[in-house]
Amino acid sequence: LDNGLMRTPPMGWLAWERFRCDIDCDNDPKNCISENLFIDMADRLFKDGWKELGYVYVNIDDCWASMERDKQGRLQADPKRFPGGILKLSRYMHDRGLKLGIYADMGTHTCGGYPGTPLDKIKIDAQTFADWEVDMLKFDGCYSDVMQQEEGYPLMSMALNATGRPIAYSCSWPAYQGGLPPKVNYTQLGEICNLWRNYGDIQDSWDSVLRIVDWFFENQDILSAAAGPGRWNDPDMLVIGDFGLSIDQSRSQMALWAIMAAPLYMSNDLRTISNEARAILQNKMAISISQDVSGFQGRRIVKEKSGIEVFWRPLSKNTSALVFFSRRTDMPFRYKTSLSRLNYESGSYKVIDVFTDKSVMLKDSTYFVVSVNPTGVVMLYLSAPAKLNPRLFYRGGQR
Ligand code: DGJ
Repeated sequence: LDNGLMRTPPMGWLAWERFRCDIDCDNDPKNCISENLFIDMADRLFKDGWKELGYVYVNIDDCWASMERDKQGRLQADPKRFPGGILKLSRYMHDRGLKLGIYADMGTHTCGGYPGTPLDKIKIDAQTFADWEVDMLKFDGCYSDVMQQEEGYPLMSMALNATGRPIAYSCSWPAYQGGLPPKVNYTQLGEICNLWRNYGDIQDSWDSVLRIVDWFFENQDILSAAAGPGRWNDPDMLVIGDFGLSIDQSRSQMALWAIMAAPLYMSNDLRTISNEARAILQNKMAISISQDVSGFQGRRIVKEKSGIEVFWRPLSKNTSALVFFSRRTDMPFRYKTSLSRLNYESGSYKVIDVFTDKSVMLKDSTYFVVSVNPTGVVMLYLSAPAKLNPRLFYRGGQR
């Protein structure tokens, strides 16, 4: 969607995967969906170095609303859990250079059973979100049919635009229609949404991450063509820092999401996150690969019988990223290849290992070995043919 927003994949925090629909603030005040949770996360983003790295969105998901609309027919926040209302939260974010995202559902109810946004409520809800100074809307799709979605998703795009407030727009539409053409029209999605969920919900497990990765790369021809600045495929949240992934698996999720030019929305507890998980999520080189201005979505280029897969993303200024991923479950696998085998042009490349920071110069024809841990990755950042200064090169007539 060409509304000037999300020219690189958005980054931030989203409540759903980690905090779900916990509304029991009496017994679980620290984890329930309430204004305190979003304030806590905003404080962490602001104080723990996340914001500077680009993690600026704080997104509310389902279960924030009151069961009843107000007398004017507007959605309202649950008064007990959000006593200050959503506007207070937006202001809190904006005062700290952060942005607030909210959630609604194209249909009679949200998936969690809260008031939905059927067709006749789209305009009023868009206006309410704009009045609350919200910066992003995730528009879910429970309790609506194909025809209503076909009408509702474009209508919400227009309604948000008509408010005059820049509000980024995330569409769950394709996820409800199987994610593939002909049922899903990616040209249209790119025109009306800034990002869209293509596939099922992520869970806090390696199994779930792997299922998502497989689906996205099996369909990479369709999906890569759809992505670009202002319009992104969304394989769902990062679950790094939760309970289900090992450190290697966490690096794999970070690396593959960066290759996919995917939105980087963490769903974890930033108050208690481990240093290892934080280091992965705050890896500057991985983030800069994710945020590359060219906005190309990377691809899987090799699938070996050994269980090693190689992914590649072209980046701006003649740079690129490679990820070597192991589906193996035995031991670190020593994978031998060369850049020319991976379709690189002849020349010398500066190669930096994203997670160890070690760098080497590599000629395209030189064979090298990467040792890839089970369910882990090696991620490389390559700067393309180093322009060798011929005078230095030939100084004294010697090479
Ligand atoms: C389904 C979505 O795909 C999830 O991300 C989450 O928003 C839930 N609905 C909330 O009910």
